[in-house]
This record gives sequence, C-alpha cells and structure tokens, in this order.
Amino acid sequence: MKAKAAVMWGPGEPFSVEEIELDPPQEQEVLVRIEAAGLCHSDDHARTGDAPANFPVIGGHEGSGVIEQVGPGVLHHKVGDHVVFSFTPVCGRCHWCSTGRQNLCDFGALIGTGQMISGGVRTHARGRDLGPAALLGTFSSHVVVNEANCVKLDEDIPFDVACLLGCGVPTGWGSAVRVGQVQPGETVVVVGIGGIGANALQGARLAGAKNVVAVDPVPFKHDKAKTFGATHTASSFEEARELVSDITRGVMADVAILTVGVVRGTMMEPFLDLVSKGGRAVLTGVAPFDDHDAKIPLQMFAMYEKQLRGTVFGGCNPRADIPLLAALYRNGQLQLDELVTTRYSLDDINLGYQDMLAGKNIRGIVVRDA
Ligand SMILES: NC(=O)c1ccc[n+]([C@@H]2O[C@H](COP(=O)([O-])OP(=O)(O)OC[C@H]3O[C@@H](n4cnc5c(N)ncnc54)[C@H](O)[C@@H]3O)[C@@H](O)[C@H]2O)c1
Ligand SMILES: [Zn+2]
Ligand SMILES: [Zn+2]
Repeated sequence: MKAKAAVMWGPGEPFSVEEIELDPPQEQEVLVRIEAAGLCHSDDHARTGDAPANFPVIGGHEGSGVIEQVGPGVLHHKVGDHVVFSFTPVCGRCHWCSTGRQNLCDFGALIGTGQMISGGVRTHARGRDLGPAALLGTFSSHVVVNEANCVKLDEDIPFDVACLLGCGVPTGWGSAVRVGQVQPGETVVVVGIGGIGANALQGARLAGAKNVVAVDPVPFKHDKAKTFGATHTASSFEEARELVSDITRGVMADVAILTVGVVRGTMMEPFLDLVSKGGRAVLTGVAPFDDHDAKIPLQMFAMYEKQLRGTVFGGCNPRADIPLLAALYRNGQLQLDELVTTRYSLDDINLGYQDMLAGKNIRGIVVRDA
C-alpha cells in the first residue's frame, strides 16, 4: 500500500515528506495506522551523524495508533487494538527478557540495521529500501512493525499522550525511579529539561524527593520544570553546583541525571561533581558515537563511592512499565498532557525539530492529518 512518511535520505539532510510503498505485514508483524508520534532528540542524532544510521531512514520511534492488519503468527494483538510502541523490541525469551531486563533485549541489536526480526525491510521509495528508525519509523501515516515492539494500550488513554509512553516518559521517569532509585527525602538534580528531563523530574517527585533541581540554560524550561516537580532551578552546571551545595549544606545531591540533548565528554566531571559521596550519577543522554573522551578524577569512585550508571529506556521493562505509567496518568499521578507543547502535521516535521533545537518545546508531537 501507499503511505506518507518523513524520510531522511542522508546525514545532515532535513526530512523529506513523501509517498512511500509499504509491504504487507509478514511473520509476527502488524500494520498500524499512526495517530500520534513524538519528536525525541534521538532522531536528530541521526541527522547530525552523532548516532550511526542506515540511510535512507524513516524518522520517529515514539508512536501510538490502531492495528489495521495482522500478519501470520501474531499471537497477542488483533485488528482494532490500540497500541503504543516500545522503541526497544521485547522477545520475551532471551537472557535479558527472561531475567527481567526487557530494555536490553537482544533484538535491540537490529536497531540501526533497519532489518525486521523475520528479516528484510517493508518500506521502499524511489526504488530503494528505507530503514525505519528503531524498526518503527513513526513519522509516517502507517507502519509495519514487529509485534515485539507493540504494547497494548487501554482505549481511555488518548493517542497524543500515549505516544510519549514509548520513549520519553519511561526513559525519564525510569532514570529517576528505576536507575537512580530515588528514595523519599533525597535531593535530585536533572540536567537538561526536554521530553526526557521533564519525566525525570516527575519520577523524582513521585519517588518522594525533598529537593528536585532542574538545570537548563533556557528560561522557559525553568517555568515548565516547576510544573513537573522542580523545587529549584539553575541555568548551568556551575550555578547548579553552588545551589545544590547551599540547599544540602555541602552534602550535595543523592542522585543526578544527565538528559541534555547532546552529551559531551567535558560535561562528565561537572556532572559527577553534583553528587554526594555515595551518590548515583545517571547518564541517560546520548553522546556522539565517536566521543570516547571524558576526563574524570577516578578517585571519586574508590574514595567517595560515587556511582556512574548508564541507562537505555530508563531501565524500564516495556511490557510492565508502559501500562504502569498509563495507570499513573489515569490516577492523576503523572502529567502527560502537559508534556505536549506543540502539535505539528507531518508536513511540518522539520519545523518541529527546529523548535526542539531552539528550546521551544518540552515535547512536540505529530498528529494524524484530520
Ligand atoms: N538512554 C536512552 O534510552 C534515551 C532515550 C531517549 C532519548 N535519549 C537521549 O536523551 C537526551 C535528551 O533527549 P530529549 O528528547 O529530552 O532532548 P531535548 O532536546 O528535548 O532536551 C534537551 C534539553 O537539554 C538542554 N541542554 C542543552 N545543553 C545543556 C547544558 N549544557 N546544560 C543544561 N541543559 C542543557 C536543552 O536546552 C534542552 O532543554 C538526548 O541525548 C536523547 O538522545 C536517551
Ligand atoms: Zn526517544
Ligand atoms: Zn529479549
């Protein structure tokens, strides 16, 4: 069938919104009509070359929609189901899935290759195969995806907030709750208040943090941060260090979470300086693929027991935590509507990314053309 999608034909190029050809779903795959898709910074790493990508790619890995067709061997979904995608597939059987760490599923190795789990690609244009970002490519009217990426969504959860449950919400919330393991009464610092950082603030608040410090150079982000649970704001690492020292009487933060758009090696030392002895520093943001250099005083690990923890998907298990986060939203414990700053049509996808880079959005989303 024909679909309309935002394709990046090479590094540095903007998205080209054009007609593509979509094959029918094959073994354990489903065809989904996309209702909403979130603009995560990770898709921009492909454009800048910070992350490896197999061009041409269809952008987008946050998405929600309705299943229109199921392929052979689909076990858990049917036509008409509402679904949200986990950007990491979950096979349910590998070492990681079966030991409760679905975010590390071995099928994650296919991300970036564009190859579906059963092999091959389902999307084509201009006589070439297109690799969908994270095997999803949600900047499209329709997608064919692995059932392993689908999580069933209760029908009372609106599509526009649901799409964010596929990356930004669990990654940020889990960075605080699952990986940072924030405890009641602790002091937490979140550096970089985009779609990920805003949810790290919410996670810290929900876990009962006493102080939640939001750090971002953009003043608009400070106002927004307060609505997601920030008790204090700062504009730079230096300012944050002084502020955190002040409010903790020199002890410093129990947990710091780095969620800036592009992580640089030079940020690591000031980042680790924010946490106390025994503190947990959570590295969630993505650095350029070839950035291998970070100068950090190694003594702070052995002598101060500081910990540096990395994370993909905020350490969440998609099949358990996406429904959990939807339930917290339903209970009023998690703000999702407030995350959506601007809605774009697919044709305006490049404007959406310009706005993200200019610091205008907590999250922009693409909604289906009426
Ligand atoms: N680990 C994972 O599983 C995972 C998942 C999704 C996204 N990410 C990564 O998380 C990061 C954040 O993504 P996002 O979509 O929220 O990005 P975003 O662009 O929406 O937000 C980033 C924020 O960082 C701020 N910032 C930039 N430099 C800063 C600095 N020096 N100090 C303080 N703030 C600074 C920006 O002003 C912006 O508000 C990206 O690197 C993204 O690729 C990681
Ligand atoms: Zn993402
Ligand atoms: Zn697995």
